[in-house]
Amino acid sequence: MKRIVILGSTGSIGRSALWVAERFPDCFQVVGLGAGKNIDLLAEQVQRFRPRVVSVLTAELAGDLRRRLPPRTEVLAGLSGYQEVAALPESDLVLSAMVGAAGLTPTLAALRAGKDVALANKETLVMAGDLVTTEVGRHQVTLLPVDSEHSAIFQALTGHRRQDLKRIILTASGGPFLHASLEELQRVTPTQALAHPNWRMGPKVTIDSATLMNKGLEVIEARWLFDLEISQIGVAIHPQSIVHSLVEYVDGSVIAQLGIPDMRIPIAYALSYPERLPLDLPPLDLLAVQTLTFLEPDRARFPCLGLAFAALKAGGTMPAVLNAANEVAVEAFLSGRIPFLAIGEVVEETLGRHRPSPTVEVEVVVSADRWAREEAGRITERLR
Ligand SMILES: NC(=O)c1ccc[n+]([C@@H]2O[C@H](COP(=O)([O-])OP(=O)(O)OC[C@H]3O[C@@H](n4cnc5c(N)ncnc54)[C@H](OP(=O)(O)O)[C@@H]3O)[C@@H](O)[C@H]2O)c1
Repeated sequence: MKRIVILGSTGSIGRSALWVAERFPDCFQVVGLGAGKNIDLLAEQVQRFRPRVVSVLTAELAGDLRRRLPPRTEVLAGLSGYQEVAALPESDLVLSAMVGAAGLTPTLAALRAGKDVALANKETLVMAGDLVTTEVGRHQVTLLPVDSEHSAIFQALTGHRRQDLKRIILTASGGPFLHASLEELQRVTPTQALAHPNWRMGPKVTIDSATLMNKGLEVIEARWLFDLEISQIGVAIHPQSIVHSLVEYVDGSVIAQLGIPDMRIPIAYALSYPERLPLDLPPLDLLAVQTLTFLEPDRARFPCLGLAFAALKAGGTMPAVLNAANEVAVEAFLSGRIPFLAIGEVVEETLGRHRPSPTVEVEVVVSADRWAREEAGRITERLR
């Protein structure tokens, strides 16, 4: 029995994790939940899973929620509330599944409290990979990947000698605009960009998939999770989303992990690691799939991928700035304020104006994040 905390329980990853927990009541007890603003859904989750503590975005939302719940549930609010839930003394594992930069400090709080962390919130490693991996080592805890690509790499690395690794190849579906021309990309709407061909995810990561920024963020995530050189990380477009990523070894052997595109598989693996749970999902039928294809990413139409590589190479606070500018630009695109292709422009211009600090202490990262949001906000206004 693992006692788990789920941060971001009302999101796509959080709901899938609760689906897993509900099916395996002998394996998991939910002791804490964190959500943003969706207190209707959180109230339902509390009735079903009876966590001892929950936290929401504001004190006002917490007050509302408290009135709906029996007094045995402690309701907290804001950053300190998330940090408290992340560090609950009775938990064994924290699933970090908030979206965006909001995930950083709660994830750090969990690590510093000695919790194993199942990490969906890739932004945490993008912003502060060095700091986070140092904390993992210092507190002797385990960081388990939830992202399907990193789960695949993790599985393909298991049982092999680290020094035999040559490189990894992250696969990307290519998103809904894989074959769109630049002219077509200029006109795409949020509704079109939110219609991902293979995965059902939250809006931010879905737009990131459409721009290929998601793959860029995953490149940075992989660098830190698996301690890789930039030159050891490749990306291949694989529109079927069946091969979730691959590891190449020095003898030329390539080991891949395959499965249907369903996040419940990597989520369950991260929660139950090192065991595997008998999930009752449709099997992968390769005879029905028949064809698996792989393509080079087009960096001219999808500049965000190259920007992420450049930010990783520059190091220091540059990846945190990439992340923050992207969050601002995605939000502006989703609310109809800038066109799709302006997302990359906002990120590129913000990166161009940043003087990276080599230090990645949390205060430095948070201040770079704040600076980038203001700068990207101004650029966004100009590009309207
Ligand atoms: N979805 C996927 O298939 C997938 C796959 C791989 C990785 N990921 C990563 O997993 C993370 C979550 O993605 P998602 O698709 O599950 O996102 P999502 O559906 O948008 O859910 C986001 C969750 O975070 C909460 N949240 C939003 N802003 C917050 C804030 N400022 N403070 C605290 N909580 C906040 C939301 O709460 P409310 O809804 O209550 O406001 C919700 O519970 C992202 O980092 C994403 O890149 C997702």
